[in-house]
Amino acid sequence: MVEFESYFKSAMKSSNGLLDKITHYIIKRKGKQMRPMFVFLSSQLCGGGAQSTFNAASLIELLHTATLVHDDVVDDANTRRGFFSINALWKNKIAVLVGDYFLSRGLLISVENGEFELLRIVSNAVKEMSEGELLQQEKSRLLNITEEVYYQIIHQKTASLISACCEAGAAAAKASNEDQQKMKEFGALVGLAFQIKDDLFDYGFGKDIGKPIGIDIQEKKMTLPLIFTINNSDKPTASKLKNIVKNQNQNTEKVKELVQIVFESGGIQYATKKMEEFRDKALAILATFPDSEAKNSLELLVHYTIDRDK
Ligand code: IPE
Ligand code: IPE
Ligand code: MG
Ligand code: MG
Repeated sequence: MVEFESYFKSAMKSSNGLLDKITHYIIKRKGKQMRPMFVFLSSQLCGGGAQSTFNAASLIELLHTATLVHDDVVDDANTRRGFFSINALWKNKIAVLVGDYFLSRGLLISVENGEFELLRIVSNAVKEMSEGELLQQEKSRLLNITEEVYYQIIHQKTASLISACCEAGAAAAKASNEDQQKMKEFGALVGLAFQIKDDLFDYGFGKDIGKPIGIDIQEKKMTLPLIFTINNSDKPTASKLKNIVKNQNQNTEKVKELVQIVFESGGIQYATKKMEEFRDKALAILATFPDSEAKNSLELLVHYTIDRDK
């Protein structure tokens, strides 16, 4: 990761004054960098790869950065990683353009290094992420989201990229097709658990997570705890909850009431249980690989995915 740091910094360099200022701002507040870790450890699990692993980790972290910058525009969020988001400081127009810039930088690095297999893997994830975000918007208008559709959304918007990390890491190490497929599936399962955890943060679990909480309801975004609650309550309660999401999502008292009902009806426990199921399925795949230091570390990273507090 230390080596990656300087690699990533130089990948983000630009000669434009404003871009350089924003890039500097983002680099100073780096995130958890879990995706590069998944790339490197997946590669090591499969025997390790040299330069290609760095290209994969850089492309994916650049792309992840771009999606966060865009996500905060879409979600109208004013903080990220403990400080103001790009849209809060420079407005939406700049944030949209800067996000595009990071994505194109990542693509260029891959092309310059002839990483076509990597591009195949990651382009698919990019397509999935856009579709997932759009599906989420569509559902937030109609409010008819089922548990199945929720999984589809989080698979597309989040799990697809973590899946790409693990597949790309394995591919960089020239693992067999079978192992690449296993790692792809492993990453997808970890990614599902990852997003359920993120959605639980929105209900106030975690300390100082560095981004706003309680904004999912405000944005009419129904996540697993609420979906479970609506599906498992009587008709009047279900309509009341839907009405709050639809018409009273800016009313703090009403939203508090909704959260209270979700807590009391076991929505949080249910989401936690589902998250743990995905974790266990991921760990089962990992268990099929021979023991190694990388395998141990990946195991720890999987546990961190659901135990983390930011
Ligand atoms: C946040 O991802 C976006 C989601 C997919 C929920 P991370 O929690 O990995 O963000 P950083 O990079 O650590 O800030
Ligand atoms: C993150 O979606 C998915 C993306 C990669 C854009 P969210 O909107 O749920 O993530 P946070 O909570 O803002 O990080
Ligand atoms: Mg979002
Ligand atoms: Mg968001």
